[in-house]
Amino acid sequence: MLRRLRSGDDMRVLVTGAAGRVGTNMVKRLVGEGVDVRAMVLPSDPQLSKLDAFPDVDVVEADLVDQAAIDRACRDVTHVVHLAAQLVRGDSPADRFYDVNAFGTLRLLEGVVHAGAGVERFVLASSDGTYRPGKPPERPLREKSWQEPADYYGTSKLLGEIILRNHAAQFDIPYAIVRFATVISPEEAGTMFRLSFWRAVLGWQALGKDSHLWPLFDGQPDLVRILNEQAGDATDDTAVGLRDPDFQPWTISLLDVRDAVDGVYRALTEPGAVGRALNLAAMKPTTHDDGASAIADLYDVPKLMVTMPMRHRLELSIDSAIGRIGFWPQHDFRSTVKDGLRGADDYVPAHSTSGVASTWHSSTP
Ligand SMILES: NC(=O)c1ccc[n+]([C@@H]2O[C@H](COP(=O)([O-])OP(=O)(O)OC[C@H]3O[C@@H](n4cnc5c(N)ncnc54)[C@H](O)[C@@H]3O)[C@@H](O)[C@H]2O)c1
Repeated sequence: MLRRLRSGDDMRVLVTGAAGRVGTNMVKRLVGEGVDVRAMVLPSDPQLSKLDAFPDVDVVEADLVDQAAIDRACRDVTHVVHLAAQLVRGDSPADRFYDVNAFGTLRLLEGVVHAGAGVERFVLASSDGTYRPGKPPERPLREKSWQEPADYYGTSKLLGEIILRNHAAQFDIPYAIVRFATVISPEEAGTMFRLSFWRAVLGWQALGKDSHLWPLFDGQPDLVRILNEQAGDATDDTAVGLRDPDFQPWTISLLDVRDAVDGVYRALTEPGAVGRALNLAAMKPTTHDDGASAIADLYDVPKLMVTMPMRHRLELSIDSAIGRIGFWPQHDFRSTVKDGLRGADDYVPAHSTSGVASTWHSSTP
């Protein structure tokens, strides 16, 4: 039975990254549960207007590199949902990942400690990127799987986890870590499993070890060339899945943004989450065959399976989240795409400037 957060004047949830893909939907869920929310956003966040729909939410601006602003944001909060992160490198130097995702988490924890009263739960959004997604150590990935990311973003997220565990032990902070699979918002989902999507993703091979997935690309021939040869004159919107030399489709765990929010809410409210890391993903990984079929069926475009010289299977086990917090994801890739097409109104669109391909390749300069 899902617990509701207690409500009342003495209770307040701080949501960082509140204008982001997951953040605004988290705010929506908490407001819907009758909870008092403080939404922390990056100063001059271009996505800020997404929060206009929640006039009762207290919006505060704070950069995770600014301790004084963070201290103000943390005053009088009883719970923290820490979603803010540097996902895409863009023009930023590589050390920005560490400053925001690792030291930013430390500053937020310091803010909680400086506020004095302590919090009842601190939930950190981490990532499947901490398991080295380009070359996962096992299949499926479980919470105890080896974590050695081999890129800036994944390493910074792993450091955030370690810093949280350390601080939680020193200052008695009840915490939970949720490791998301690739998060998809319904209106974005229809861009995946397209020829243009894979051209973009495989194109990062040219970045060498600056790419988030470099262990997958390392030592391989020109993958975009291989894709283009097999695609022939197929149009950009063609549904495309990738498969290995044995014709087995690649696989990837995905997570609908609404399921992500539900998992975080449970991590915030369920006693079974305390002191744990929990993978969050759809019930089953999506095979590229199923992903491309969903796009082909729902958009009425041709489907093509392209053979790559290597295998890639990035699969998360969610057994622990099911057992400990009753997480039961409601969406798979096909239903997420469908919801995007029919204009479902039970979520806040991402209005992302980065798109799913970029979040999957977060070290991309
Ligand atoms: N999107 C994914 O596929 C994915 C996968 C695994 C984990 N995650 C994690 O989930 C969380 C939410 O991701 P999302 O998809 O909503 O990302 P997002 O980019 O949509 O949102 C992140 C938010 O953090 C804010 N932010 C960035 N730098 C900041 C700073 N220095 N100070 C304050 N705020 C800052 C941004 O303004 C943005 O609103 C992140 O912690 C991310 O690492 C995401």
